[in-house]
Amino acid sequence: MRRPLIAGNWKMNTTLAQARQLASEIAAGASFDLDLLVCPPFPWLAAVQAEIAGSQVLLGAQNCWTEPSGAFTGEVAPEMAAEHCSHVIVGHSERRAMHGESDALVAEKAGMALASGLVPIVCVGETLSERDSGETDAVVTRQLGAVIFRLGPAVERCVVAYEPVWAIGTGKTASPPEVQALHLRLRTLLCSASTSGDSIRILYGGSVKPDNAAELFAQVDIDGGLIGGASLKAADFVAICRAAR
Ligand code: PGA
Repeated sequence: MRRPLIAGNWKMNTTLAQARQLASEIAAGASFDLDLLVCPPFPWLAAVQAEIAGSQVLLGAQNCWTEPSGAFTGEVAPEMAAEHCSHVIVGHSERRAMHGESDALVAEKAGMALASGLVPIVCVGETLSERDSGETDAVVTRQLGAVIFRLGPAVERCVVAYEPVWAIGTGKTASPPEVQALHLRLRTLLCSASTSGDSIRILYGGSVKPDNAAELFAQVDIDGGLIGGASLKAADFVAICRAAR
């Protein structure tokens, strides 16, 4: 039995005051038999940590670098994130697209995050043009394959998030059976790398909302969600958690 995980990716949103408010509202509304995570912008981590203290809400970072310290202007070491967080998102499609992050870099980030005691949430997913040309399976296999190559059986300590790029922030979602089929493919890959592949959580992300969450989470291999836009409204985020119970 895999325990569902609902993770909110706040991206580069919220003022400090809004972040505090959102965190306290989510913490107040949270009493679910699942894991619940919020990933605010870096500068708000400590403030959000204070707001969620004593609740079931966990804290995650949206990114990290691959080195523990040094001349890496603007970067955040996984060790630094681990002072506040239990999880870190790596390889989000926005970072792959806008910051040119390669499969190998994402895999290295996942490895260094694990070594720092963080649980990496490894994002994979195809673009619209890759989907249209029938490359979805090849793309996600390549992306997850790089992580498996770097980590070996330790991939079982990661969370995987399948996020089709064309579904992120667009209001379009892949159909639940389509996502299930893709997750099964990812699960098969994970099981080929680890005897605990069946216990690895595979989240879906891409325009998850309160009204489509239940149908997605009803699929056997969809173990929760990585939520962007809808995680910025406490009521919507809590409603999505309710749908995942
Ligand atoms: P969305 O974003 O829910 O706004 O589509 C998901 C994500 O980017 O993680």
